[in-house]
Amino acid sequence: MEFDVIVIGAGAAGMMCAGEAGRRGRRVLLIEHAPKLGEKIRISGGGRCNFTNLHCTPVNFLSQNPDFCRSALARYTPRHFVALVESYGIAYHEKKLGQLFCDGPSQQIINMLKAECDRGGVGWHMPCQVQAIASKAEGAHGRYTVSTDVGEFHSQSLVIATGGLSVPKIGATPFGYRVAEQFGLPIVLPRPALVPLSFNPETLAQFGDLSGVSIDAEVSCNGGRFREKLLFTHRGLSGPTILQISSYWRGGDWIEIDLLPGRDAMAWLSSVHASRALPATVLGEVLPKRLAQRWCEVHGLLQPLDQLSVKTLREIGHGLTHWRVQPSGTLGYNKAEVTLGGVDTAALSSKTMEAKAVPGLYFIGEVVDVTGHLGGFNFQWAWASGHAAGQVA
Ligand code: FDA
Repeated sequence: MEFDVIVIGAGAAGMMCAGEAGRRGRRVLLIEHAPKLGEKIRISGGGRCNFTNLHCTPVNFLSQNPDFCRSALARYTPRHFVALVESYGIAYHEKKLGQLFCDGPSQQIINMLKAECDRGGVGWHMPCQVQAIASKAEGAHGRYTVSTDVGEFHSQSLVIATGGLSVPKIGATPFGYRVAEQFGLPIVLPRPALVPLSFNPETLAQFGDLSGVSIDAEVSCNGGRFREKLLFTHRGLSGPTILQISSYWRGGDWIEIDLLPGRDAMAWLSSVHASRALPATVLGEVLPKRLAQRWCEVHGLLQPLDQLSVKTLREIGHGLTHWRVQPSGTLGYNKAEVTLGGVDTAALSSKTMEAKAVPGLYFIGEVVDVTGHLGGFNFQWAWASGHAAGQVA
């Protein structure tokens, strides 16, 4: 019942931290409330786990303090995790933009992390419900009592690795935020991120039946700008470029979409101005036909191109490259890949993840106010922050 380190949450960050601490010779207990290990890893990357990104830099993360992630990311890089993956003989490939995926099922990453914990002699309780946490200061160390439905455990260090709020049906809880509050640590208001956006009723009536149409688009909002696939859904917009911009979007904001990225829209429209074809036909050469047709209907572009004025042509070009959409909301935590916000980094050491005012209490992974872009960055943060705490806890 006596441990050096108790880690609560056996997800990506928790298992990384427990394994590291265990291999330093620390007596570690890992507590998980779900009946299955690393469920988010299992469903990640479409079942193939996009476990890191080769181009990971602090620029790929959002936080109230954008510099907080620097230290941990610099000390545990994608190359370190790739070396670990290779040492277990797990085959992987780069899909695009530095994103590394397993060739086989994500379960391989879970098995690898479990094996690393076993190497460190980590003890487990799973499923196990934490009922209360109590602490008393002892010299330079904390002294924690964790009461659970299977008994009471004591430790010098307590690591909270219970993640964010996304996908509650596989175990996400606000537990980590409650612990932070219990110890007087501030929280940056959590909100869903990497999440599809819903159309407002007017836009839904215009474009809601284009579900399944996918295009290359550049989307911007509040300083974020991404060019990737955009997908129309029966509720609004999704696809990588929308998931990315959702992390920058706040209720009431407009997003701006370039439907013809990389193309000089005005030059192209001028080159087809003399055509007798309908705008929908010509537009259908560069956009999916269903979208081209609907765009022209919505904008009343029903005469042949050669009958349109230069001014109208300019308006078409501007409309296609600066399509402004005001989403009514996101699809929420059930559909979000991650949670923005969390334990305020101002209260934590960026080197160790330890709470500055609470010796021996650590927060790692997604529960912290550090959120990565889409593409393997969130796991890299889980590994790096778990590693940082695992070196000292
Ligand atoms: P994580 O959520 O992994 O682990 C937290 C653990 O704590 C869970 O096991 C949970 O059950 C447990 N827990 C919660 N409350 C508890 C309590 N009260 N008591 C005990 N245990 C408790 N990222 C990426 O980089 N590449 C990708 O391919 C994907 N793909 C992806 C797909 C989908 C569908 C989602 C939802 C998310 C992703 N992500 C991703 C994001 C990534 O999964 C996420 O950022 C990391 O898993 C975060 O790691 P953590 O260890 O912090 O939390």
